[in-house]
Amino acid sequence: MSSDEKDAAPRSSNAEPTTASGADRDEKGAAARAQSLSKLYGAGDTQVAALSDVSVEFARGEFTAIMGPSGSGKSTLMHCLAGLDDATSGSVFLGDTELTGLSDKEMTRLRRDRIGFVFQSFNLVPTLTALENITLPSAIAGRSPDEKWLKEVLSRLGLQERLGHRPGELSGGQQQRVACARALASQPEIIFGDEPTGNLDSQSSAEVLSILRAAVDEFGQTVVIVTHDPRAAAYADRVVFLADGRIVDELRGPSAESVLDRMKRLDTAAKQSAATASESENG
Ligand SMILES: Nc1ncnc2c1ncn2[C@@H]1O[C@H](COP(=O)(O)OP(=O)(O)OP(=O)(O)O)[C@@H](O)[C@H]1O
Ligand SMILES: [Mg+2]
Repeated sequence: MSSDEKDAAPRSSNAEPTTASGADRDEKGAAARAQSLSKLYGAGDTQVAALSDVSVEFARGEFTAIMGPSGSGKSTLMHCLAGLDDATSGSVFLGDTELTGLSDKEMTRLRRDRIGFVFQSFNLVPTLTALENITLPSAIAGRSPDEKWLKEVLSRLGLQERLGHRPGELSGGQQQRVACARALASQPEIIFGDEPTGNLDSQSSAEVLSILRAAVDEFGQTVVIVTHDPRAAAYADRVVFLADGRIVDELRGPSAESVLDRMKRLDTAAKQSAATASESENG
């Protein structure tokens, strides 16, 4: 078996559905995957490898958490997977669609129809109300979100009282919940969240995570989030650990304790290898 065959997950031979509905989605295969993805910033001595030869798959209908130290490449990986940033080399697939090579127009449509994104810095439109922000992606796509689901999202995220407010009139945590509701409203195939609970208290955090969990369990959507919080990671089916732009570990069926334990171990290993490197540098 060639290494290519070995690395390829069983994938559906069907064309990717372009509808937002999750019910008839093929359960097998990767919703998104990166293949030998590298991303370099700068040149020469100051060059930074934000991602180094990363290959990873996100199975359909699964909830994955990406963890790793600050600067380890988590946001870069997410942005590349969601077609918001170009890698230096390697390829990204959303279902069977390879993102490299899509025209700007095709990329815009794919993002609009198939991806929900919760940014580390919310990215809400300041002149629109909370509700207008939430329904904007659907409006642009010429669809209206499922009323029942939208109501459930708004009530579970505690946003009903704030729907007429503009982002500037909302707290950081409320803006973050609006950003989550926006990604969830149109029930896209895959939702990426870059620290979607980073600004939330534990109660709101639990609401956001449980509704992401529901999107996976009840609608077969795929969710990938970046988090620093082992309790948040415990909502996922799988945790992928990044360090220095590489995937260094993975955990299935995580609990907050097992994630914390793994983080400690990775931290110790990183410190040891840094010490060894500086010893050999200093002779
Ligand atoms: N536009 C840029 N120009 C140069 N270097 C960059 C740029 N964006 C990111 N980097 C570098 O790439 C590396 C990965 O950054 P990235 O934002 O992906 O990290 P992260 O894991 O998301 O960190 P955090 O947990 O702090 O959000 C870092 O070393 C960062 O300094
Ligand atoms: Mg980041």
